[in-house]
Formats: sequence, C-alpha cells, structure tokens
Amino acid sequence: MSGPNSEYDPVEVTPLRADQVEAMRDAALAAISDAADLDALKQVRIDHTGDRSPLALAKREIGALPPQARKEAGQRVGQARGAVNKALGERQGVLEAEHEERMLVTETVDVTLPTDRSQRGARHPITTLSERLTDIFVAMGWEVAEGPWVEAEWLNFDALNMGEDHPARTMQDTFWLEPSKAALVLRTHTSPVQARTMLTREPPIYVVCPGRVYRTDEIDATHSPVFHQIEGLVVDKGITMAHLKGSLDHMTEAMFGEGISTRFRPSYFPFTEPSAEMDMVCFVCRGENSEDCRTCRGEGWIELGGCGVVNPRVLISCGIDPEVYTGFAFGFGIDRMLMFRHNVADLRDVFEGDVRFAQPFGVEI
Ligand code: DAH
Repeated sequence: MSGPNSEYDPVEVTPLRADQVEAMRDAALAAISDAADLDALKQVRIDHTGDRSPLALAKREIGALPPQARKEAGQRVGQARGAVNKALGERQGVLEAEHEERMLVTETVDVTLPTDRSQRGARHPITTLSERLTDIFVAMGWEVAEGPWVEAEWLNFDALNMGEDHPARTMQDTFWLEPSKAALVLRTHTSPVQARTMLTREPPIYVVCPGRVYRTDEIDATHSPVFHQIEGLVVDKGITMAHLKGSLDHMTEAMFGEGISTRFRPSYFPFTEPSAEMDMVCFVCRGENSEDCRTCRGEGWIELGGCGVVNPRVLISCGIDPEVYTGFAFGFGIDRMLMFRHNVADLRDVFEGDVRFAQPFGVEI
C-alpha cells in the first residue's frame, strides 16, 4: 500500500501567500486613492479587477489547490477583492461628485448676460393669407391648381373670350415678353389657370388657384406691378349662380366670422355671363352705424372682386360641352384683402420684404 500523499501547503504557492495577496490588495488600494479623475479610475479598475489583474489570476489559482487548502485561500483572495471593490465604489462616488461640481462651475450660464441673437425670419403674410383662403376651399373638397407666371397670350386672353380687339384687353395693362411673335405675357390675372384646368381635367372641376399676377401699374400706396389673386372655378352638371353665392358666403364667413356674407352687383367680364362684382359685409362695423367706419369708409360693404357664371364660349374654347356642363368662377386680390383685414395703409410695405413688416403676422399659421 502506498502512503498518503505528502501535504501540499498553499502558503507555498506564490500568488496565494497571505503577504502576496495583501500586497496585491494594497497596490490596488494605493492606485485607487491615487486616481485623480474618472478616466484614471477606469484604468485602475481594469488593472486591478479585470480578467488579467493579479487578484483575478490569484482567484483562478484557487481551483488548482487541493480541497482542504481552498477555503482559506478563497477567503483571503475574496476579502482582498471585496476591499478593492469597496474602495473602487467609494472613489467612484467621490470623483463623480467632484466632476459634477466642476461642471456646475465651468458650465454655468449667466442668463442675465445681454445676448446677440440673430433675428428669426417670418412667413410672409401674403403666403399665410393665401394658404388660409385656399384651405377654406380645400376643406370643401376643392383641389388647388397652379399655372406659370409667364403665360401664353391665348390662355391669358383668347381662351377667356378676350379676342385680339376685345376692349377688355386694354383694361389689363400687360407686360408683353420679347420676341412678340412668341405671344407670351406675364399673366395679368389668375384666370388663365381656369383655362389650363379645363383643358387638362374632366368635369366635375372644383379648383382654387392662388398666385402672383403682373400689370404695368406704377408703384404707389395702393398699386404695384406685382400682386396676388385667388381664383375659383367650378364646372359640373346643374351649377348655377346660387352655388357661386353659397360658396362665397361660406368663404367670407370662414374668413371673417358668422354673418359676414356677400352681395352681388351687376357687372361685366368677358369670361362670365352673367357677371357680378362681389362685396362682403364690413367685418368691422357689420354695416351698422357705418358712417364712422374707417375700414369700409362708411359704405357698410367692402369690395372683393369679380365673379359670374362661366361664359359658354369659354367652356367651348376649353373643350367642354356647355349643353351638359355649366360653371361659376370668381377672382379677387389677396393683397387688397390683407390691407383691409390688417389695416395696412401702404401696399409698398407688403412688397418691400422688410422682415419687421412680416414679423407681427408670423404667429399666424
Ligand atoms: N380676372 C379678373 C380680374 O383680374 C377677376 C375675375 C372676375 C375673375 C370674374 C373671375 C371672374 O374668375 O369670374 O380682374
């Protein structure tokens, strides 16, 4: 029979000797208290508790010891690791607090300092008003149609029953483009979008056409060679003047409030028959005690624009059978509406592009 195995003394295993484990622990504790900031502490944590740290390697050695030696060595290493982890946690807390304090000092903002903020822009009130008007019709299921600023003479005039010698042509002071044989103009109204729409879409047509128009007007407080209109066109079966009146009343009420309806005055436009000028009830005095009203100048009514039942000749020009379909149209100035709605005295302010003019309107979406 062979004798018992000779005793194996773990104290003899270098990395597990008490003084060695203590040295590892003390080295770790010294490094921890020396760590001056969180980055340094991170490195200390890796060096002294990471997989390759002396204490981790020592822990791994325990498994290789004979069972009777493991307990004591395990306790020794465990206590050392516990002490190191505790110190790490405490130092982490201290350094974090220091870091935060430093940040509070270095990143302090003096909210009382005068600032040099750059000015924000603002949406132009013509844009917002145009969108608001358009939205009223879109909410009724109408579509938005647009056309170009440089327009064919035929669409700007002829298709709308304004032939070459029609006197109404001279009423619209036109910018003609060179060469003249190209027969191009800067559109004088948004009505050519009516023709474009009828030529490209099948009835039923319900469109609203906002946009920029041009006329050879001198600039003054109420005139500008560039301004804005919004046009409406409906072509469907059985459309009458009553539908026109209802749509316009809805528009003025949606824009200016309940009871602000419209009235028609007989007029003439080549593209509508019958034609009317439309006025709306003054939204300031509502037509009562209007003598002193500065908005309607005592009229009780504010002139809006023109409208009527689409002339059958226009339908024919645009390929629509007037025996089957009828329609109505209207058009009015957006700039004029902006002026009376917001008390703008001088149209030049609208076009000069000074952001200080647009800013007070900027909150309107
Ligand atoms: N285009 C006309 C103008 O600029 C306004 C107008 C009048 C448009 C009657 C219409 C309409 O659609 O039916 O003076």
